[in-house]
Amino acid sequence: MAKEKIILTGDRPTGKLHIGHYIGSLKSRVELQNSGEFDKIFIMIADAQALTDNFDNPEKVRQNIIEVALDYLSVGLDPAKSNLFIQSQISELTELTFFYMNLVTVSRLQRNPTVKSEIQMRDFEASIPVGFFNYPISQAADITAFKATTVPVGEDQLPMIEQTKEIVHSFNRIYGETLVMPEALIPKNGAQGRLPGVDGKAKMSKSIGNCIYLSDSKEAVQEAIMKKMYTDPLHINVADPGHIEGNMVFTYLDAFSNQQQLEAYLPGYANLDEVKEHYKRGGLGDVKLKRFLINVLEDELAPIRARRAEYEKDIPAVYDILKKGTEAAHEVAAKTLSEVKAAMKINYFDDVELIKAQSEKYQRN
Ligand code: TRP
Repeated sequence: MAKEKIILTGDRPTGKLHIGHYIGSLKSRVELQNSGEFDKIFIMIADAQALTDNFDNPEKVRQNIIEVALDYLSVGLDPAKSNLFIQSQISELTELTFFYMNLVTVSRLQRNPTVKSEIQMRDFEASIPVGFFNYPISQAADITAFKATTVPVGEDQLPMIEQTKEIVHSFNRIYGETLVMPEALIPKNGAQGRLPGVDGKAKMSKSIGNCIYLSDSKEAVQEAIMKKMYTDPLHINVADPGHIEGNMVFTYLDAFSNQQQLEAYLPGYANLDEVKEHYKRGGLGDVKLKRFLINVLEDELAPIRARRAEYEKDIPAVYDILKKGTEAAHEVAAKTLSEVKAAMKINYFDDVELIKAQSEKYQRN
């Protein structure tokens, strides 16, 4: 049998998902789901991982489970094709983490660039919680438990996949071929990899208030673009020459717009490069461009909003989707764990040979 193609990915439930999540990952997940190329797809709400740096705020994590689930369903993840589940409810993941911990050194974790920058961001330098420090190992458990071959993630997650690969490599070398080697799948379009906030700051963040959420109303999206979006402070009059670099309208157009939309909403240009040239020369106003961007985003967000409204009508049904997905995911993880335990020779009661051999050893004396 050809090796199964399996996707696993997920998000921490620490807030509603925004259009950065969408263009960086969710959109391609839906495309992968609908491509029919994958045998199984697991999408995980990583609440246990969210708790590694929100352990003092469990209510936040709890509240955001449903937000993330609604975001998933509204972008078009289909429970009939993608298994949506909750990480903390699968205790096998914790067991796998415990065994993988033997295969990773403290200095290796310290060198992980994502962990390093997160430690800085969270002021954990003085004292790092062990659980947080350990989360790359737990992420390796998430990926390997489902024998994922493909892990669609943003670029910032590459060090996690690297760490997972090292664990798979060590495990298979020491205990025999058991775990499946995963590959990361990152967005091809550079502009989609890391979408800055509307204010031009490096990251979309709830606390800065520079996000556009998937669940935002049309009015909220318009307001964010018209009133908050950073363009070019030197482009004061329409006739002034403008700058493209760091101009969020162009950054977002690069990430979201396509040729048909250009023809429909900003006719008269052969491609986006011509629009940029015009802006640089002068004579193209911000408002005109912002209207174009609003249309582009609405094309994407209107169907998402409509689907969300449908699911919001029956929240218990959404929890039920998660429950069923979690049950199915649990079965898969349990099977992997038993293979792992067998490989590690900690399957005493299932090992008839072991019991027989020990018995013979003692009968001889
Ligand atoms: N670390 C990911 C994030 O912060 C979430 C995550 C947890 C994940 N486990 C995973 C992603 C396994 C991919 C695979 O968004």
